[in-house]
Amino acid sequence: MSEVIKVENLNAGYRSFQVLFDVTTNIESKKITVIVGPNGSGKSTFLKTICGLTTLYSGKIFYMDKEITGLLPHQLAKKGLAYLPQIGNVFLNLTVKENLIMSSYTLEKNIAQERIKEVIEYFPILKDFWNRRAITLSGGERQILAMAMALLRKPKVMLFDEPTANLSPKIAIQVLDEIIKLRDEYGITVVLVEQNARKALERGDKALLFVNGRIIFEGEPKALLNHSELSSLYLGIKSFNLNKN
Ligand SMILES: Nc1ncnc2c1ncn2[C@@H]1O[C@H](COP(=O)(O)OP(=O)(O)O)[C@@H](O)[C@H]1O
Ligand SMILES: [Mg+2]
Repeated sequence: MSEVIKVENLNAGYRSFQVLFDVTTNIESKKITVIVGPNGSGKSTFLKTICGLTTLYSGKIFYMDKEITGLLPHQLAKKGLAYLPQIGNVFLNLTVKENLIMSSYTLEKNIAQERIKEVIEYFPILKDFWNRRAITLSGGERQILAMAMALLRKPKVMLFDEPTANLSPKIAIQVLDEIIKLRDEYGITVVLVEQNARKALERGDKALLFVNGRIIFEGEPKALLNHSELSSLYLGIKSFNLNKN
């Protein structure tokens, strides 16, 4: 069992407003770690802290056994860490094509072209709206574009913040299934913050439950789903034992 990211005793927040308290955990390689918890419990802050976007009071962050505490977002991106925030991960006024070109600008031109070809093969649907501005895409289509833009840089780890927010249930499942494919076909390590707790937990490999800035459950997603107290109290899930008649 190898870990790609390790965080130790993170205490973090925004200036003097502390959000995370003593957060310690591992993100395992080529697995999907699902992060759930009530609104305001610090899920987004956790992702942002890994990416160096919050105030870190104390604690350490390691990426592939090297300390990355204090590194800036672009330095982390270069190392293979892709962060997809909840909003603002595509350029709304640019076309699909222009978005892909923009996000490959740090690559050599022929490599960029090659990678763009690859992501279109991976997400053929992008061809259908190649010249459309991102603002005209549906939420699900935009999410696919954002994924494609991140994939261009061949990340090792992708941190998703509520990729299915505001999507219909059917489209939400399609987006989640694309995220599963990233693990299965590209071997990408995924950290997935999700409000569709049940759907994400059914598909993930490991669960973290955040409450009030602390991890109060860490383990098998199924164990969390079947934990009647935690799942009804914090996830709005009524769990029942399917094996019982
Ligand atoms: N940029 C910010 N500045 C100050 N406080 C923030 C900021 N972003 C989030 N917060 C606060 O941090 C707490 C945790 O928020 P967040 O991590 O976004 O929770 P979650 O993603 O679990 O809903 C909330 O009280 C929220 O109001
Ligand atoms: Mg959030």
